[in-house]
Amino acid sequence: MAPDKDVAFPLPGYDRLCFLKNIIRNPNIRVGDYTYYDDFENAGNFEKNVKYHFDFIGDKLIIGKFCMIASDVTFIMNGGNHLVDAVSAYPFAIFGGDWRNAMDNKAYPVKGDTIIGNDVWIGYRTIIMPGVKIGDGAIIATNSTVTKDAEPYSIVGGNPAKQIRKRFSDDKIQLLVGLKWWDWPVDKITRNLHQLTGDNIEDLINCS
Ligand SMILES: CC(C)(COP(=O)(O)OP(=O)(O)OC[C@H]1O[C@@H](n2cnc3c(N)ncnc32)[C@H](O)[C@@H]1OP(=O)(O)O)[C@@H](O)C(=O)NCCC(=O)NCCS
Repeated sequence: MAPDKDVAFPLPGYDRLCFLKNIIRNPNIRVGDYTYYDDFENAGNFEKNVKYHFDFIGDKLIIGKFCMIASDVTFIMNGGNHLVDAVSAYPFAIFGGDWRNAMDNKAYPVKGDTIIGNDVWIGYRTIIMPGVKIGDGAIIATNSTVTKDAEPYSIVGGNPAKQIRKRFSDDKIQLLVGLKWWDWPVDKITRNLHQLTGDNIEDLINCS
């Protein structure tokens, strides 16, 4: 039988690693089945590390299935944005009084939702900036600051994160992106674990 996707802590006696969707309380964070988060102290730190995420902005953090998220990964959301094109980035209006109208007819920059694909591995202490989209199968190296979208099945790293290399040839990446194995019924995933942990992508195309 496959592990139960609806269990919060799938490793017996170990409450640092969770199937993330089962512990998330914020409706503006959506997480797919089997995506796990491993924290050095407490899995509850995940939501604390989604920073500047305010209901009145309504931006969403959407994470696909089967992602692997390491400790201290931080998501900066749109509530952290100040004015950039103005003379001053100082948020006068929030302090009220005679400053309360400073933002009338103006808006802070919003870069959109943060979207993480499926089967994405995000290394320890990565920071992901607002509005970034990370493609299926991408790997983010330890301690990266991701400021731009990452292509499917690319490895990106550094600050600002740049593509280090692609994981497979373009042909194979196209096959994998179309295959979407993470959407298979879990029984089919279970039957094909050896192909999924192997490197012969052609084998997966014909499997049942
Ligand atoms: C991204 C990663 C998977 C790459 O592993 P790899 O394929 O063995 O890559 P290499 O070590 O051969 O490095 C390849 C290149 O990436 C660079 N690189 C590796 N890690 C990097 C990082 N964190 N930041 C920036 N560049 C990095 C290397 O310097 C090297 O550069 P070069 O080609 O110019 O020489 C690995 O470095 C990594 O960060 N793993 C995440 C570990 C982690 O955080 N785990 C948490 C527990 S789940």
